[in-house]
Amino acid sequence: MIKRNLTRLFIVGIFLICLTLFVTKGSLFCNIFVPNEYTKERECQTLHVKKDIPRIYIVTPTHTRLTQKADLTRLSYTLRLVPNIRWIVVEDADQPSDIVKNLLASSELHYTHLFAKTRPESLKKTAERWRPHRGVDQRNEAIRWIRQNAKQTGVVYFADDDNTYDIRLFEEMRYTKKMSVWPVGLVAGIRYEAPKVRNGKVVGWHTSLPRNISTDMAGFAVSLQLLDDNAGAQFRATAASGYLEADFIKQLGVTLSDLEPRAEECTKVLVWHTKTEKSSIKNEALILKWYNYTSDPNIEV
Ligand code: UGA
Ligand code: MN
Repeated sequence: MIKRNLTRLFIVGIFLICLTLFVTKGSLFCNIFVPNEYTKERECQTLHVKKDIPRIYIVTPTHTRLTQKADLTRLSYTLRLVPNIRWIVVEDADQPSDIVKNLLASSELHYTHLFAKTRPESLKKTAERWRPHRGVDQRNEAIRWIRQNAKQTGVVYFADDDNTYDIRLFEEMRYTKKMSVWPVGLVAGIRYEAPKVRNGKVVGWHTSLPRNISTDMAGFAVSLQLLDDNAGAQFRATAASGYLEADFIKQLGVTLSDLEPRAEECTKVLVWHTKTEKSSIKNEALILKWYNYTSDPNIEV
């Protein structure tokens, strides 16, 4: 009797183990008994401690607006998936804000929080510059910090807070020698802007603007070495409209033949110049009054 029950129990046990292996496609088993690659990789990524690969310094200017927290949250979650980075967030403000401070503190990222209010002279319009450039003083503050503090070999990328990034882009730029370039989607009024590549070399640009090196901010990364070798190079608010990036690149002494084309010879779009729709709450009081509600100022959006 006992022997028969034990046999039944054994058969049911074997059946349950087989069912578990089938349902979890073996992953449960692997996770328990085999320290699998995926798990190890994830650990390194979350902790951002990989020392054996160049570090990427990701510079993000940001300014107060209704969608700021939403945009930064989205970007922070993208960056969580990228190993060995330092996220340098520079607020366009006289002092750091609680929104950004708290967001960074809970981001689990390796970060630096800076601030630099856009100077009045950066906002002046001229015939050549019909709209002031954005993020200039903030990027320069980050460059100053990087030149002073970055010790590892690495690369600098200027990642605006409202673009969309495929995480594979960061591995494309990680081993940049001088300056790497790639296509940017949804920019300059066309579907994509991209370096033209022939025999592994950049020979021109698919663009709507008459610029020699016609990249958007999102379309290039520079090595720390290049930044150090050209100690005076910075973004200039005086650059003509559409030439902010080209003016900076020129100061780095880079020419077309120096460029390192990435993203499958610049045939793949891994970053999009998306723009978050401006939210409006100008009728909020009216709307809430109609429903007899009030907006709680303690709820952070
Ligand atoms: C385009 C380019 O992609 C930017 O890199 C370039 O700086 C900008 O044009 C320009 O006019 O110079 P666009 O989408 O039009 O970008 O600009 P935003 O996304 O509004 O601003 C670029 C970055 O600067 C953002 O990260 C934004 O948060 C920040 N910013 C914007 C400020 O720090 N202060 C501002 O007053 C406005
Ligand atoms: Mn933008």
